[in-house]
Formats: sequence, structure tokens, C-alpha cells
Amino acid sequence: MKAIKMVEGIYRVGANIENGDMFEGMWPIPNGVSLNCYLVKGEKTALIDLVRDWDGAPLTIKEQLESIHVSFKKIDYLVLNHLEPDHTGWLRDFIYENPGIEIITTKKGAALAKAFSGLTDNIRVVVSGDTLDLGKGKEFVFYEIPNVHWPETMATFEKNSKILFSCDAFGSYGSIGSAVFDDELSQEDHEFFYKEALRYYANIVSTFSSFVLKAIDKLKDLDIKMIAPSHGIIWRENPGKVVSLYKDFASYMDGPAEAEITVIWGSMYGHTEQVLNSVVKGIRSENIPVHIHRVPDEDVSWALADAWKSTGLVFGMPTYEYKMFPPIVYALDVFGIKHVWNKKVFRFGSWGWSGGAQKDFEARTEKLRWDFIDPVEWNGYADEEVHKLAFGRGKELAILVKETASKKAD
Ligand code: FEO
Repeated sequence: MKAIKMVEGIYRVGANIENGDMFEGMWPIPNGVSLNCYLVKGEKTALIDLVRDWDGAPLTIKEQLESIHVSFKKIDYLVLNHLEPDHTGWLRDFIYENPGIEIITTKKGAALAKAFSGLTDNIRVVVSGDTLDLGKGKEFVFYEIPNVHWPETMATFEKNSKILFSCDAFGSYGSIGSAVFDDELSQEDHEFFYKEALRYYANIVSTFSSFVLKAIDKLKDLDIKMIAPSHGIIWRENPGKVVSLYKDFASYMDGPAEAEITVIWGSMYGHTEQVLNSVVKGIRSENIPVHIHRVPDEDVSWALADAWKSTGLVFGMPTYEYKMFPPIVYALDVFGIKHVWNKKVFRFGSWGWSGGAQKDFEARTEKLRWDFIDPVEWNGYADEEVHKLAFGRGKELAILVKETASKKAD
């Protein structure tokens, strides 16, 4: 792929990571992820964000820059909006190629440049409102947007083109093909990027949702014509759409979220699984969407995305040695870290020679601000009474979820 011209003098250069690695070492990316950098040419030249030496990304970026007759050695400024190593892992090698370049970042960014790359020289620390004039009508204004999702994060706004370079904010998983802009995508592509933006948000950003809302508020008076994140597509036709999506995503932390229910379940010998269908039938009798994820068969990344968006959660798991089935423990730990808060919740599951899962479940979810309806537990095989009860609880949760989510629109 060549460098993509966004407007005169501003280009997107990017690499797709498709080698089967996990993002942040833990999140599956079966459809890849893009690392986007941006080249801005005035009298001086600036590169916004960098890459990690990952799946050939530095060479890809180098070749794309050469396609517009730019060499690493001739770039005057490197703007680092965010220092996480997916954007800076190749920094030391880059500086070796261009030792005179000036790095532009925040104070905390400078500390991280030192920590990760040993760099202390040629770093200009900026704060919100600082500007950098590249000449020929290209001028940056910097905005600190801390904790979206690391504390050093900033966004860079180019005043003339009105492009916001937002780094991780407004990004998504998914490789980028020849269609780079929102207006070049099919409906199917839009649905894909919506799902991958939600999963990216839930996996990477969700913990910091209150800071996302602060950042959106801070940037609200900018006349933004284009949003160019460091992962995913560029929002040219409708930048307001992704801002609105992010507002929704961030609002789900305090709730209510959407009138949907996510079921996360695991079963050892099928006794908990038997009852799953009855619970789901109960939910569906109220005509609301239900997302079903089995652990450990499926990575928690997808359950987390659906759970983030859902007002209701269901956990189905047996007792395992006086405690919860361990794959559910892992899912709950991740949910806790990611602030999956303020949900309506139901749990069901079997036990054999001893109970204990429910007690463990209650203890581990104590700080998550969840409201529970009564659980359904049974010993061994589930009889008709258990199935009836499970159907009823599924229905009860769905009614509660509908009532709760309806307040979102008020
Ligand atoms: Fe894409 Fe937080 O790094």
C-alpha cells in the first residue's frame, strides 16, 4: 500500500499487523490491527506517531514514505501523542536513523521516552494550547487528554486542515485495506469496524471512561473536519459519528447501557449447559438481544465487548472445588479491571459433592456495583422445576434490563 493523501501535504502511512500475535500480548486480533502514522509536510516535516518493530511495520512505513519522496532522515519533528510501545517500540532505531529529529510530547511522555527508549535529548515538552508551526499553512495545536488511556496521552490538531490526530482514541482493531476513509466503506465494513471499535474500546480504553468523557468535552469546541486515529479507519465523512459512539461507549460504565443481555458460561460435564437454553429462552421471550459466550473455549475479549454494551449479564457456571469454575473467575477478574460496572445480573449453575460457587461469586463481585436477581442452583441433574425456574429468571432479568435501559433515553 502507498501513502494515502488526506489533504494537500498530509498523508496517512500505516502498517497492518497480521502475524497472529495478541494485541498488548493478550487480546486476539484475528482480523489484524493497523498502526497508523501521519506525515505532515510544511516547510518543515513532521511524523505523527510511530510503530513497533512488529510484522515488518518499520519497513512498510519506510516504503510508504519513500512513495511520497520522504526519507526517515529528513523528518524534522516526531510528534508522540502516546508512548505505548505499539507506537514507540521502534523509537530507538528510528532515532539512530535520524539523530537530529526533535520529539514533541507531554511531560509524562518525555519520562516514558526515557523509560522505554533511553531518550533524553531533543525532546520538546508541550502542554495544552501549545503550537508548532511547520510553515506553508501547517500548524499544530496540542491538547493533553490524560488517561485516554495512558496518563501522557495528547491529541494533535492541525489548524488549517482541521484534522484531529487522536492516537488511540476513536480507534479500532481490524486491518485496513485499500479503503482508509469512512466514506469508502461498505455497510458491511461499517458494521465490522463498529464491532471492532467496541471490542477495542472495551479491551483497551474502558477503564478510563470518565477520562474519555473529559477529553471529548475538552475538544468539543474544535471545528473538526477529520479524525485520524492511530488504529483503524479515518473519519472524514462523519467524524461526529465516532465521537458520538465513544460518548455512548464511555457512558456504559455508569450505565444504563443498551437493552441487551450477555451470557458468559462454562460447564464441566454439561449439567450447567443443560439449563443454559432455558435461561436464554426466558430472555428471548422478552425480545431483547442476547449474546452468548462460552469460556474458556472463547477468549474473554469478545464477552467483555458485549458485556460492556449490555445492561444485563448472566453467568452460568458450576461449583469447582468449593469455588467458581475457574475460567469464569478469570472473566470476572478482567471485568473488574475493565470497570464493567452497574449491571443487572443473574447467576445459575450446578454443584456435585459440594456447593460454594455462589458464595465465591458474591464475594468476587462485591465491588462491581451490580444488582442481582435470585440465583438458580441445583445438585447434579436439572429437573423440570429447575428448567422452569431458570426460564422465569431469564425472563425476569430481561424485563428488568428493558426497564433500566429505557431510562437511558430519558
Ligand atoms: Fe495503540 Fe495505547 O496504544
